[in-house]
Amino acid sequence: MKNKPSDIRLGIFGFGCVGQGLYDVLQTIEAAGIEVAKICVKDKEKLRSLPSSAFTYNPQELLQDESITILAELISDAEDAYGIVKQALQAGKTIVSANKKMLATHLPELLELQQKYKGTLLYEAAVGGSIPIIRILESYYSSEPLQQVSGILNGSSNFILSKMEAEGLSYTCALQQAQELGFAEADPALDVGGFDSVNKLCLIIAHAFGVSVKPEQVLRFGIDSITEHDLKFAERIGARIRLVATAVVDSGDQLYVRVLPALVSEQSELYRVTNETNGVTIAPVFAGEQFLKGRGAGSHPTGSAVWADVSAALSGYRYVYPKADTRAIALSKEYKINLYLRCPSSLVLPAADFIELNKISESEGVAYYTASIESETLKSLSAYLAAERIFMAEITPAQAHNIALKNCNTEAVVYS
Ligand SMILES: NC(=O)c1ccc[n+]([C@@H]2O[C@H](COP(=O)([O-])OP(=O)(O)OC[C@H]3O[C@@H](n4cnc5c(N)ncnc54)[C@H](OP(=O)(O)O)[C@@H]3O)[C@@H](O)[C@H]2O)c1
Repeated sequence: MKNKPSDIRLGIFGFGCVGQGLYDVLQTIEAAGIEVAKICVKDKEKLRSLPSSAFTYNPQELLQDESITILAELISDAEDAYGIVKQALQAGKTIVSANKKMLATHLPELLELQQKYKGTLLYEAAVGGSIPIIRILESYYSSEPLQQVSGILNGSSNFILSKMEAEGLSYTCALQQAQELGFAEADPALDVGGFDSVNKLCLIIAHAFGVSVKPEQVLRFGIDSITEHDLKFAERIGARIRLVATAVVDSGDQLYVRVLPALVSEQSELYRVTNETNGVTIAPVFAGEQFLKGRGAGSHPTGSAVWADVSAALSGYRYVYPKADTRAIALSKEYKINLYLRCPSSLVLPAADFIELNKISESEGVAYYTASIESETLKSLSAYLAAERIFMAEITPAQAHNIALKNCNTEAVVYS
């Protein structure tokens, strides 16, 4: 298992898509010079590509081994991952993690432990796969205020949307392909329901705006009720549907956060982000908009991001959360959102919940609407919309206008 004789010993938790990816990267990069001490996995019966002596099934064998310099936590179980990272930080160790669900849920506590016991926690691979978004927010934009960070943060959902759009695949068939290729989480609801993007957005916000946002505070809706009707509707107005995570700060230092499907027009960089690729737009106050695009999932792209963290941590790199305490940014609850909605024509939408609800057209038992609604109302309505298999996507005011122009027979259901 030795790359070359070295004093640096790495303990790896997990040997699935990401763990194997990291291992491959270490084998290929000669300069890595890192000895993989042991790999901790769970399933004793599983066939492995390495001899059994490479593995342990006992996490304590790595956590209590004082000869190990650095740990990489790359397991799929968020609760067990929390236990591993917490124990490592309590022992003042250096650990890198790819587990966005665990990190987004426990970040404030883990940062306290890092501070108290002088350990190090890095997690670039947890956000945007191979895109070095956290490092850029931490280092390059450490002193410039940001207005917005938004983008496509879930490779699996984007793969599904792209395949449906380009090859006419059904949602189920595209999801199956994403799972076969290792882009989807063990529980695909995390991807297609928008939960995974929410977790990543919370981590981005901690670095971009210095605000601690809990996943449950983020307005969220997934893509799992999408059909070819929605793709055709988007195409008719020159747009594509993408699952977009957004964090925007206004001039009054109010922060607006959401993960929603959105109709993105050809002018948007996100229009051309396809398959498992992720894309993130950063809008700094002075530098002007920047766009980063790269592989958001997969064994080697994610393994590469873990290796970047391992090598940075070995050089003494730590996150400093440069925007914490610099600006009094507050999470806003109430704001207006413009929507496209599609549902069976037999269904009566709860019109009183909307600021505005316009029926655009109706054909073959399917009704199309544009609407505007308060964010908090949408949050409380989203479980009902999901249960009724209604699809919705955010639209811009310009798109709403364009849709109305193309459908002059628009019927205003309610307007206030
Ligand atoms: N796949 C991606 O493209 C990607 C991208 C970015 C981040 N991530 C994150 O990276 C992490 C790993 O994802 P993955 O895709 O590599 O998952 P995966 O392919 O399902 O592999 C998971 C690995 O974790 C091990 N494991 C699970 N519970 C364990 C426990 N309690 N103790 C020890 N090992 C345990 C499994 O052991 P066995 O081999 O014994 O089953 C397996 O080796 C997740 O947090 C995921 O969200 C994944």
